[in-house]
Amino acid sequence: MKAYYDARAPEYDDWYLGVGRYAHLEREHWDESVRELELAVAALPPTRTLDVACGTGFLTRHLRGDVTGLDQSTRMLAVARKRVPDAGLFHDDALELPFEDGAFDRVFTAHFYGHLEEDDRLTFLAAARRVADELVVVDTARRPDREAVQWEERILKDESRWACSSATSSRSSLSPSWARARCWSRTAGS
Ligand SMILES: C[S@@+](CC[C@H](N)C(=O)[O-])C[C@H]1O[C@@H](n2cnc3c(N)ncnc32)[C@H](O)[C@@H]1O
Repeated sequence: MKAYYDARAPEYDDWYLGVGRYAHLEREHWDESVRELELAVAALPPTRTLDVACGTGFLTRHLRGDVTGLDQSTRMLAVARKRVPDAGLFHDDALELPFEDGAFDRVFTAHFYGHLEEDDRLTFLAAARRVADELVVVDTARRPDREAVQWEERILKDESRWACSSATSSRSSLSPSWARARCWSRTAGS
């Protein structure tokens, strides 16, 4: 996944913006849905927030309060650095989270949880639990016409092809220990 997102970094926002390879996709109410998501993120009360797997910072920029981002891709972070210059940005692994216990009030993560295998999900949930009391997960919604877990072929502008595991999520797919977890589900893969 690391190499894929490094390669995709310069064109990652095309997915949100509906340009480039995504220009001709039929995605019903896509722009409204993205705007609604941005507003929901902006409506979270300001606090010490860690955005895990922040990518290009497309959603990070809407978080309020003391915001920190973390991602394993230097190329994703290079885009984020320009977009959210005031956020602390860390190049590190989401499954380890190099922060002290309770360093944040909230862990926010978008379009990341669904890429994790079951074991890694549990590792991530434990790491998130260690650094914050609240978890907000944004991911692709479970829906009847799509397998819960599927391998997808992703093609980039340079025609390179990548195999990517992608799972849909629901609140019940989070650990029961996350009483304060919120889950925002969207309908199309990232
Ligand atoms: C689909 S993108 C989501 C980016 C951003 N959160 C968003 O919603 O636009 C997935 C991101 O997860 C990052 N990522 C994948 N595995 C990771 C890991 N183990 N540790 C940190 N970041 C990771 C990738 O580099 C990529 O930026």
